[in-house]
Amino acid sequence: MARDDVPLLERERELAVIADGLAAACGGAGGLLTVEGAAGLGKTRLVQAACDSARSRGMTVLSARAGELERGLPFGVVRTLFETPVGRATAADRAVLLEGAAAMAAPVLGLTTGGGTPVRDGAAFTGLHGLYWLTANLAERGPLLVAVDDAHWADEASLRFLVYLVHRLAALPVLVVVAGRREELGADKELLERLRGDPLTSILQPAPLSEPATAAVVRAAFSPRADAEFCRACRTATGGNPLLLRMMSRVLRDEGADPTAFGGVRVTDWRHRWSPCRCCRGYTGCRATRGRSPVQSRCWATAWR
Ligand SMILES: Nc1ncnc2c1ncn2[C@@H]1O[C@H](COP(=O)(O)OP(=O)(O)OP(=O)(O)O)[C@@H](O)[C@H]1O
Ligand SMILES: [Mg+2]
Repeated sequence: MARDDVPLLERERELAVIADGLAAACGGAGGLLTVEGAAGLGKTRLVQAACDSARSRGMTVLSARAGELERGLPFGVVRTLFETPVGRATAADRAVLLEGAAAMAAPVLGLTTGGGTPVRDGAAFTGLHGLYWLTANLAERGPLLVAVDDAHWADEASLRFLVYLVHRLAALPVLVVVAGRREELGADKELLERLRGDPLTSILQPAPLSEPATAAVVRAAFSPRADAEFCRACRTATGGNPLLLRMMSRVLRDEGADPTAFGGVRVTDWRHRWSPCRCCRGYTGCRATRGRSPVQSRCWATAWR
């Protein structure tokens, strides 16, 4: 997702927990943060904030975003995580990173170790163990942040790696951040539940925005003249969901809506149209949206992303 320059509102507590987790990792005590919530509540923004903060502390960031269409690709998320530090490393550096037990990660990443007997693919445990040691080798060079967004779409093998890693984090300078929509968990629910049940896990559940924060978003994204009653109507219509507020503000701006109590009545009237597009989940070309009004035809992602 493209980066957003909109200020992050009402997330002081979450940012403090992230800062604590990063500080602990830098001090050698690893941990896991899960960021949970419905679509649009601001999970990705928090993951991005964690990545930015980690980089500013000099940490190495391994990040990946799972994709719904890539769910069937074993270790797809893992490969993205290690692509930059390992896949793009020089041959000499890669050989160092893949020394010892970490060599067992090479087949998983589609790499050969460049010497010795290639490790047999398909050996699930050895692959996970190799990935763990690769992470440990990277962490020896300095503290790491491992960030996985949209984990509800992650492939099962990558989730197994995260569970394996998290169970061994306590003495590693590694913070793992996993974000996703719990209500959309599928067959891999058990693995994600195991992650959030780990004693090292802190759970973040970003809340909908309050009335004052809603007003700030609407005034910045739609009109600085939006009055209190109008902003209240926007909150009622969207439940304070930041994504819906952004979408709604854009539509209001495009339509030249009246930013007063009078216009607010119309916003309230729109309420029933503002629900996530269940049929296409935001992919373009959704048949169900054809032939409808501009407001109705907007679904989660196509509307503003
Ligand atoms: N606390 C906040 N203050 C202001 N804007 C926010 C806040 N949180 C999120 N936003 C904005 O709301 C929109 C949606 O946020 P984001 O993409 O992080 O949601 P998400 O929970 O990751 O959604 P999804 O489940 O679809 O991935 C973005 O434009 C983001 O900048
Ligand atoms: Mg997101």
